[in-house]
Amino acid sequence: MSIREIPAGAREPYVPLLLVGDEQEERVFSYLDRGRLFILEEDGPGEDLMSQLAALDGADLDAILPEMLDEWPEEAMLDGAEEEDPLRAVALVTDEGDGVCEVQNLAVVPAHQGQGFGTELMETLMRRLSGVFRTMRLGTGENPAVLRFYASLGFRETGRIPDWFREQYDHPILENGVELRDRICLERSLP
Ligand SMILES: CC(C)(COP(=O)(O)OP(=O)(O)OC[C@H]1O[C@@H](n2cnc3c(N)ncnc32)[C@H](O)[C@@H]1OP(=O)(O)O)[C@@H](O)C(=O)NCCC(=O)NCCS
Repeated sequence: MSIREIPAGAREPYVPLLLVGDEQEERVFSYLDRGRLFILEEDGPGEDLMSQLAALDGADLDAILPEMLDEWPEEAMLDGAEEEDPLRAVALVTDEGDGVCEVQNLAVVPAHQGQGFGTELMETLMRRLSGVFRTMRLGTGENPAVLRFYASLGFRETGRIPDWFREQYDHPILENGVELRDRICLERSLP
């Protein structure tokens, strides 16, 4: 698994996933090139063996190669086989001044939600950004599963903006069949 930053100007390929975290395209484009975009990718099949190979010298390689090829995952051998997209999650964080950063968007590829990628990305961001910012904040809707997710990461509610989703979006935002109305403001300090 690797987490890397994508520079401004190279972010368009991540817009479809950013739209999972924030449905309104104009909103996503309003912060796309502002702040820092982080992506989490999962290593492809064969990646572990590649890193083992890179660590060997010539003599070791002759001795060990036949055995390693036996273990090589079949998916990695198929020439021209369709490669799975390694992208699993994205997060966009802006600098709000005064030592405060804001997670404007966090989204995990729907088929891979609930597998720990959101937690992994947020924990890495908090580690990387501590020392740069004092406080991390974000706003989300009244979705109990999402609120539990952020509570488990140490966020606490600091306020609510009534009817924010109705005012900010040009269509009702539904999650699990329930319309989101208030924006729940969450924050935590960074160690
Ligand atoms: C919310 C989200 C970022 C969580 O990331 P994730 O990788 O799915 O979550 P993790 O596997 O790391 O953590 C799972 C926890 O998050 C909660 N959760 C929230 N939304 C979830 C979802 N759609 N699927 C599975 N778990 C979800 C679960 O309750 C779970 O808690 P538990 O372990 O106590 O049961 C991700 O599900 C997502 O992108 N959802 C759609 C977009 C969104 O709602 N973004 C946040 C808006 S602010």
